[in-house]
Amino acid sequence: EKGGYDWFMLKEIAEQPQAVADTLRGRLSETGEIILDEVRLTDQDLRDVDKIFIVACGTAYHSGLVAKYAIEHWTRIPCEVELASEFRYRDPVLDRSTLVVVISQSGETMDTLMALRHAREQKARVLAICNTNGSTIPRESDAVLYTHGGPEIAVASTKAFLTQLAACYLVGLHLAQVRGIKFADEVGAIVAQLQTMPAAIAQVLSTMEPVRELARSLVDVNTILFIGRHVGYPVALEGALKLKELAYIHAEGFAAGELKHGPIAVIDEGTPVVCVVPSPKGRSLLHDKVVSNIQEVRARGARTIVIAEEGDEAVRPYADHLVEVPAAPTLLAPLLTTVPLQVFACEVASARGLDVDQPRNLAKSVTVE
Ligand code: M6R
Repeated sequence: EKGGYDWFMLKEIAEQPQAVADTLRGRLSETGEIILDEVRLTDQDLRDVDKIFIVACGTAYHSGLVAKYAIEHWTRIPCEVELASEFRYRDPVLDRSTLVVVISQSGETMDTLMALRHAREQKARVLAICNTNGSTIPRESDAVLYTHGGPEIAVASTKAFLTQLAACYLVGLHLAQVRGIKFADEVGAIVAQLQTMPAAIAQVLSTMEPVRELARSLVDVNTILFIGRHVGYPVALEGALKLKELAYIHAEGFAAGELKHGPIAVIDEGTPVVCVVPSPKGRSLLHDKVVSNIQEVRARGARTIVIAEEGDEAVRPYADHLVEVPAAPTLLAPLLTTVPLQVFACEVASARGLDVDQPRNLAKSVTVE
């Protein structure tokens, strides 16, 4: 049932190219239009949206954090991301023209369900991004976009995350198209790029042996930090969450620009710091900022593990370990940069002799608030 893999998690990591292809299948027309038939919201409903909230927990929340960058950039609609467990308790401003996107692999997470019920009571429209057909969250939502990622058994979410990202990109591009945003060129180019991502994910997967080797050398560390900027920031949070939940090692993700506002003080001789670097093409200012953040942590003794685009020569001198991923547009890069962090956490946990699929204290589906 594990298809020859030691863990369901490894099987699910390997399934990611197919899972993302399945999320995209039938939803991108030849002419670059996004087709979202199962979304029972009319184009007029979508044109009326003036505010978006993305609400989710854990890994699904991290996919929402990435989505915010893409959706605001493509649609110019203000978009906020909230932890489902906080959302209804702070009395958010919601009305008919608010679109609440709830993201859940299981479709049964109680915190997310209660947030969705609260949003509907306040007359907001709710779109669920979900992996489980017929589960409670899509049943109670106004519309659903299924990720079609196939069953995810391991407690740690992997392919669900990548398929949630793909679904969020589709939602953002669809919103941009129905609202006639004048980014026709950019949106068209992104649609074409999106279709090449499954093959790029497969390419990342084929180069993971050095990451496994590195992971095995880090089984005894007390803490690992993860830094990133822009969409690399949620990727850093996701890398830290994977490591905590699987390897029981203290891990924290930071927005790299925040380091100098406090966290840099924890860096000591040899502290491993995983750095997620944006593409040097396109937004090069962003790239250069991350490179200087890497220099800063290294100057304080950090052992840097750098995830960067292949051919990025500027980071090489500051990388104690360099993990290269294929080039991708900045907003789509999390589909690639997350993968080494999943493999890394899985291998550290495995090397520590832990049960990767069933970490202590955790359940696959959290059905209590
Ligand atoms: O089923 P959901 O997507 O609603 O679950 C949300 C979180 O409980 C889940 O992503 C959790 O954080 C994972 N175990 C992380 O790997």
